[in-house]
Amino acid sequence: MFLIITIIIIILFTLTHISHSAVNRHNTTVVSDNHHVLKLPLHHINPLQSPSDAISSDTARLSVLLATLHRLPNLPLTSGAYAGAGQYFVTLHLGTPPQPLLLIADTGSDLIWVTCSACRNDCAATRPPHSSFLVRHSDSYSLHHCFDRACKLVPQPRPNRGACKPTRLHSPCRYEYSYADGSITSGFFAKETTSFNSSTGKLLQHDSLAFGCGFKISGPSVSGPSFNGAQGIMGLGRGPISFVTQLGHRFGNKFSYCLKDYTIAPPPTSYLMIGNVATAGKSKMLYTPLKTNPISSTFYYIGIKDVYVDNVKLPISPSVWDIDELGNGGTIVDSGTTLTFIPESAYRHVLAAFRRRVKLPAPAGSPANFDLCYNVSGISRRLSLPRLRFKLVGNSAFSPPVGNYFIDTSEDVKCLALQPVASTGGFSVIGNLMQQGFLFEFDIERSQLGFSRTGCSKS
Ligand SMILES: *[C@@H]1O[C@H](CO)[C@@H](O)[C@H](O)[C@H]1NC(C)=O
Ligand SMILES: *[C@@H]1O[C@H](CO)[C@@H](O)[C@H](O)[C@H]1NC(C)=O
Repeated sequence: MFLIITIIIIILFTLTHISHSAVNRHNTTVVSDNHHVLKLPLHHINPLQSPSDAISSDTARLSVLLATLHRLPNLPLTSGAYAGAGQYFVTLHLGTPPQPLLLIADTGSDLIWVTCSACRNDCAATRPPHSSFLVRHSDSYSLHHCFDRACKLVPQPRPNRGACKPTRLHSPCRYEYSYADGSITSGFFAKETTSFNSSTGKLLQHDSLAFGCGFKISGPSVSGPSFNGAQGIMGLGRGPISFVTQLGHRFGNKFSYCLKDYTIAPPPTSYLMIGNVATAGKSKMLYTPLKTNPISSTFYYIGIKDVYVDNVKLPISPSVWDIDELGNGGTIVDSGTTLTFIPESAYRHVLAAFRRRVKLPAPAGSPANFDLCYNVSGISRRLSLPRLRFKLVGNSAFSPPVGNYFIDTSEDVKCLALQPVASTGGFSVIGNLMQQGFLFEFDIERSQLGFSRTGCSKS
């Protein structure tokens, strides 16, 4: 879950109406590939951390996020590792000839960016293969001019503002993109050819994919060991510069993914699919409308109406789920956040309901950051934990399996993997752990989210 700072959100938002699809109107070789589907394997990379370690960082990121929406002048920066826990990675081929790059798939941000290098000769000596995009090894790389319309879609570094002159020939579009934890990527906003193997085995190309060529990258979530060797981020948000928006018109403005349970050994492959996927599981697809937030064009919001524990409706005021007139609140579906966050008052009710129903001992020395943990030593086989169900707008219900909200923090210790939204004005997040085992289909044209418990087995 990554988030751009307020100013950026506002810039993007104000520009969205006039220049929505300004980027993707650039020349493309094929008009429509509605019959094609891009099927990109998603790799789960989680070598060091367990989902429980993600927590402090997730929380920290959210708190920055809240500050952002409240437009506090000083954004608190967080330290410490984030990311590693529970991220999904996807390979993007950029350039001519294509260079493979490993990116984090993130529905919580818009920009596609990769680490770039200007290295020309003997690059392998200083740059391990595929550790960055070698600009000078591609024949199709080009820069946006700072006066291009596309350049207005990306946030510019501060000192650069006003420096753009249409007459100056070599005045590249610079960008600087910030995430919720204070991490920053900056460099040139460029264009490249990207290639894919479609699901039918055909090689597809897309010219002029607008992306950030990152030369300066800093912060815990985008560099260092916690980035897990990734070379960038693929923003899958709803804004005009995201991967989905740029390629969407070729593939029916739809994408879907299935995040499979990565605790299974060997872990099954998950896929990100761009386009209209026909799967048998779709017949059992449930739908809820995607809502928009006037303050942020990036996120995929859904509406929660009620929460049930073992089919008993909890007395949570429906208004805690609303997006208010300032753009606070609401619930987003985010592939880049591990845990699930719900409003404090709802969280208290869920905790109370679980405590009433489960009479198991607490473990000695309860894990930090979790409010509800059980010592399940000796009873694992017959263990039955209460069922959590979210009733959604559109009269559908999301009923995750127990493993999506109870996680093993150590042997014989299970904890409820829900977190309260830290401060007022924050919003709720359905994280990737909660999404496991479901096929999620983001239908941007119809503005709806489909989900199916059986769809995953088919892809
Ligand atoms: C397409 O598939 C071939 C054969 O598996 C592989 O060598 C190539 O790298 C793939 N290209 C892309 C762009 O994914
Ligand atoms: C869980 O319970 C078992 C059996 O009572 C005990 O031996 C073990 O130390 C407990 N584990 C924790 C983490 O509390």
